[in-house]
Amino acid sequence: RPRVLSGAQPTADSYHLGNYIGAFRQWVALQDEFEAFYFVPDLHAITVEYDPAQLRERTYVAAAQLLAAGVDPERSALFVQSHVPEHAQLAWVLGGVTGFGEASRMTQFKDKTAKGGQDSASVGLFTYPILMAADILVYQADQVPVGEDQRQHVELTRNLAQRFNHRFGETFTVPKPYIVKESAKVYDLQDPTVKMSKSTSSPNGVVNLLDDPKKAAKKIRSAVTDSGTEIVFDPQEKPGVSNLLTIFSVLTDRTVDDVVADFEGKQYGHLKVALGDVVAELVSDFGSRTRELLEDRAELDRILADGAARAREVAVPTLAAVYEASGFAAPR
Ligand code: TYM
Repeated sequence: RPRVLSGAQPTADSYHLGNYIGAFRQWVALQDEFEAFYFVPDLHAITVEYDPAQLRERTYVAAAQLLAAGVDPERSALFVQSHVPEHAQLAWVLGGVTGFGEASRMTQFKDKTAKGGQDSASVGLFTYPILMAADILVYQADQVPVGEDQRQHVELTRNLAQRFNHRFGETFTVPKPYIVKESAKVYDLQDPTVKMSKSTSSPNGVVNLLDDPKKAAKKIRSAVTDSGTEIVFDPQEKPGVSNLLTIFSVLTDRTVDDVVADFEGKQYGHLKVALGDVVAELVSDFGSRTRELLEDRAELDRILADGAARAREVAVPTLAAVYEASGFAAPR
């Protein structure tokens, strides 16, 4: 079976609606057809300032949320990145085939350092995309389901895989980004020209999956909408309404046209109230499932240990092939 791999950073107390729509729904859908590897990238999380105790707790909460979202540990390997040392080992090797200029062109690094300046950024933040390439390549993944904001990182991964293969012999599968056009970018509710994001959105601009349902509905109802009154899908002229229509259509499994037809002749307020109810139900179910899963830490540990063992079955032989191709003298 072809392989799929993806991860979502444990850098907040909760994942948000953008993660769910842009990524997790695809992860869940792909589990049937693919051999799936999903993980919590804790190594990536230390590239910005953080608190160790908080990271440990957030790692558990993240894993519970991925299960609540529908990742099935029977079908998919669910694990914590640091439990599989081959990620970091491969990242070092890939660093040798990554150009400094190439790494400097990563827009996420530029965005993340735009405010504080590069002098206060860690080297880890700079080399972050190389570790992400290792995450993907160590499983020989065919597809990587992500939101639009990760496309450039997957492109870098493809380039590194091709370069390594060219220099040292066929070693890696060259992965493809799996990005669903309609849902690849969920926008901030208060500023629908920028993506919904844990780090840059205002508290009311982002719906957290662990938000209280009433609060989540309220955030939707107070979303910034556009001038005019007609409910039409027009991302250029009406980014606010269009964002709400996208969210509505994805969460109710209907086409945007269908949703628009339903609201014909109605006002923005009707759409917001209806979507508020849909989102409240989503986070209500999601929150209770997550809390339930967090009550049994031993069971979570067992799931993550099993996931890491399955992950290593693939990662260990890949790293061995990479070391061999790289010319490292094997210990005898
Ligand atoms: P992260 O943790 O920022 O986000 C997790 C996933 O959610 C998607 N996403 C969005 N999709 C649509 N609209 C949004 N507003 C939105 N915000 C976030 C992201 O595109 C992502 O798919 N570098 C990765 C984590 C990572 C990874 C990997 C992913 C580490 N190693 C290997 C894939 C493969 C990141 O920071 O995603």
